[in-house]
Parts: sequence; structure tokens; C-alpha cells
Amino acid sequence: MPRTPPLLELRNVDKRFGGVHALKGIDFELWSGEVHALVGENGAGKSTMMKILAGVIPDYRGEMRWRGEPIRLKNPRHALELGIAMIHQELSVMPELTVAENVFLGRQPLRGRVVDWRRMFLEAEGILAELGFGGIDVRAPLADYPLGVHQLAEVARAVTSGARVIIMDEPTSALSPMETERLLALVRRLAAAGKAVVYISHFLEEVTHVADRITVLRNGERVATLEARATDKAELVRLMLGREARFFESSYVGRRRVADAHSGEPAVLEVRGLTLPRRFADVDLTLHRGEIVGLYGLIGSGHFELGETLFGLHRPSRGQVRLEGRPLAGGPGAAIAAGLAYLPPSRRQGLFLQKPVYQNVTLPWLGRIGGVVPPVRREVALTRGLADRVGLRPPDPLRAVGAFSGGNQQKVVLARWLVEPPRVFVVSEPTRGMDVGAKEEVLKILKELAEKGVAVLLISSEPETVLAVAERILVMAKGRIVEHLEDREVTKEMLVHAAAGEMQRSA
Ligand SMILES: Nc1ncnc2c1ncn2[C@@H]1O[C@H](COP(=O)(O)OP(=O)(O)O)[C@@H](O)[C@H]1O
Ligand SMILES: [Mg+2]
Repeated sequence: MPRTPPLLELRNVDKRFGGVHALKGIDFELWSGEVHALVGENGAGKSTMMKILAGVIPDYRGEMRWRGEPIRLKNPRHALELGIAMIHQELSVMPELTVAENVFLGRQPLRGRVVDWRRMFLEAEGILAELGFGGIDVRAPLADYPLGVHQLAEVARAVTSGARVIIMDEPTSALSPMETERLLALVRRLAAAGKAVVYISHFLEEVTHVADRITVLRNGERVATLEARATDKAELVRLMLGREARFFESSYVGRRRVADAHSGEPAVLEVRGLTLPRRFADVDLTLHRGEIVGLYGLIGSGHFELGETLFGLHRPSRGQVRLEGRPLAGGPGAAIAAGLAYLPPSRRQGLFLQKPVYQNVTLPWLGRIGGVVPPVRREVALTRGLADRVGLRPPDPLRAVGAFSGGNQQKVVLARWLVEPPRVFVVSEPTRGMDVGAKEEVLKILKELAEKGVAVLLISSEPETVLAVAERILVMAKGRIVEHLEDREVTKEMLVHAAAGEMQRSA
């Protein structure tokens, strides 16, 4: 039998972003007519790999082949000309334009030199109906619709671009269960029509249901490519996480029970009616001694700004924050003095990369370790002990922080707060961009702090991170707390749908 080459191939593809080794010698084959799912933890390299396939990342090592021929994509337009379209995780829609314009973005039907609106509206209606999503007013601004419709507009755009390869990077993250059903049916129809679909999703039921083959990435490596029929969720979770991931397993396997175990403990932080104009409004929140409360929201929901405001980086227009009964007001200095520590979502905000680890660790404590200028020897010794506790690798207090991997830089920031544990620790996105092992270590440190009595507010846009360790979970959407989940079973789907502004009443 003559072997035709795959439609698209990667051979030994390698990609680094500075110190991050995002893809390590990846091989990948994609055939016409298949749905090929790509799964892996946050940070495993899925989006990076797909951005290479779609011409978004042109600089990498290794080779890409199109129908057996080596090819070097210069940019996304080049990929589109070849027939490769990608629906990005970060949507590229324009909410202020109409639904129809978003479907046709960049290639609106023209009459002479002006846009043929009538035709565009008719065709957009037709396309959405054909995709199984009728009933959307294509003349309305996209902004009038929930995030799910934004995602659908982007899907419609890719599907109608005539592409032969369609890459969907987490396309259902904001879709309702019914919209998801329809999208999965569409994916199957595309494959039946001979297209190749790459499907990235964190929802493993979806993946095993829709895919023909599944490739698993872990920490930038391809660990397996499997026939979907011959595998199951448990095996996928094992391959994605490896053996090291105790906390994360529950986030993937399905439900996790959140217990309101600390409500009897004294309230350490009380937030009432806190409002920061255009970011969040009327936030009420209580943290008890020794508990980890998750605050989950989509990017832009206001949850990160809430963390910044608690730390005193913004001045709220209304409401109050009390720490052990005393009003907390003033900037970060006052917050630290009162016992509130803060870990920003971007590590660079909190680190001096050229300075050695020990200086970064002892920075907030200089006044206390011994005199105005503490002996370096004491700082280094103190840091050495902390480096051990957080599992810093290499455990060298004298090395510049910039020379460590992202996960280890995060451990340096955490070590800083172990010198003298705070009363309240507000941590934003503490495990973003880390490999599974480092994530586990970071969450373990948070657990240990909570066991010592610290009240932890864990703010994240990664449902897995929140589910892994939080005991109660609050969901924020458009600047408001829309769900309090305690003393019940919680699934990732529930979190994501609540954050997208739709309650999922089943479950
Ligand atoms: N533009 C970038 N600059 C620096 N690091 C990046 C960039 N894009 C991705 N990374 C890093 O590369 C790794 C893989 O990221 P990504 O491909 O987005 O993972 P996934 O999509 O599987 O969650 C992560 O550690 C991430 O932080
Ligand atoms: Mg991604």
C-alpha cells in the first residue's frame, strides 16, 4: 500500500522562551479526517505547539512538514493561505462590531468597494444556522452576547475560512453544556468532511468523546499518542500529571467536595461592600484562621484587582477591610505591618532578578533580622534554611534570582513570607506557568501555611489550581461574587460556567 504522508507533521520541534523550555523535541502527525485532541496540564506547551502550527510562532528549532514537504510558516496569514486556521484561547473577536462582522472579520463580502451588509448578514445567519447555532441576531453588537457567543463567532470564522486544518484551543471554556454539545457535533462533521481538527480541552469527557486520537503533553514533552477508543480518563490523568501530582489529581478526576471546615475559627479578614470603580463592586468576603479560600474568575473578572486592593495597591471608593477587627487602610506598607502578605500574579513584579536569592528573601524583613544593616552571614543562613523548606533548586542563596526557572522564582517569593508567617496571605496565580512538580510544591507550601493558622486567599483563573487545595470557593464574574461554594461537591464545569455568567443548575 502506498503510504501518503500526513497532512501536517512536526519533527523534533523545540521551543524556549528565555529560561522556559516550553517544547522538548516534539513529534506530531495530523491526518485529514481525524479529530486529534491535545491534552496536558496548564503550561504543558499545548498552545505553544499549536501557535507553531498556525504560524504565530515562527522561531523554533526542528521541522514542520506540510504533506511531506518541509515548510517554514512566516506568520498566521501564511498559515491561512495554506489552509491552517486557529481559534485562539485568548479570543481575537471585536466585541463592539456586529456578530456578522466578527464572523467575516478581515474578509467582509464587498459590493464594489463597500461592505455588502445585506449579504454579510444573510450569509452570517446562514453559517451560524448551519453550524447549529441559529437564533443569534447577527446585526447586534457581539458585546450584547455572553462570552459563549464570542467563542462561537470565532469558531464560525475559522470554519468558513475554507481551512483544511482547524485548531481549536479550549473552544468550550465559556460555552454552556448545550452549546458544547453542538460544537462537538460540528467538530465531528468537520472531520467527516475530510478536515483535520486539533482539539485542545481540559474537559477530558469531551476529549474522549470527540477525538479519534489523543496526544498527551507533560512539561513540554509528548508523553503519548493514543487511540481515543483504547483509553479512558483515568489513564489520561495519569499520563498528564505523572506520579508526582497528589493535589491536582482530584481537580481532574471529576468532583471534589469542598467542606466549610473552618467557619468555627475566628474571622481574620472581613471585607464588606468593597468597591473599586469599573473593576469590582460590593464584595463581601470573610477569611477564617487556617483556611484556604479559592477565588476563581475568568481573566478580566476583577479578581486580581481585588487582591491588589486588599494589599493596598488601589484605593477603593467604598467598603471596608478589617484585619482581626482593625480597619486596614493605607498602602502596602500598612498591609504588611498589619500581617497581610501578597503574592502578585506576575512574579517579576515582586522580584529583583539581578539580586541574589537571599536579598530577595530578606527584603521585607531587613529592619528585624538584626540592626539596620544585618550581617550578610545571618541573611544567607536564614535563607538557606528557607530554601530547603520550599525545595529551591539549586538551593543556593547566593545565586541571582533571574538564573532560576519560573517555578523556583516563585519559591523564592514564597520563602520570603516564611520568615515570619503573615496572618493573611493573598496569593494571585501562584502556580501559573510551572511544571506539575513545581506546582505541587507551591501548593504544599500554601497548605503548610494554612495548617500554621494563616488564612489564605487563593486567586486564580485556573480552575484546577483552585480545586486542588481550596476549602471554600468563591466565583467572581464581571466584578461581582456570583457563587459561594461550600459544603458541597464542585466540578470544574460548575466553576467555569458560573464564571462565564451562567449558573449550571444541574449537578
Ligand atoms: N510568549 C511567552 N513568553 C514566555 N513564556 C511563555 C510564552 N508563551 C508560553 N510561555 C511559557 O511556555 C510554557 C507553555 O505554555 P503554553 O504553551 O501556553 O501551555 P498550555 O497551553 O499547555 O497551558 C509555560 O511555561 C508558559 O509560561
Ligand atoms: Mg494554552
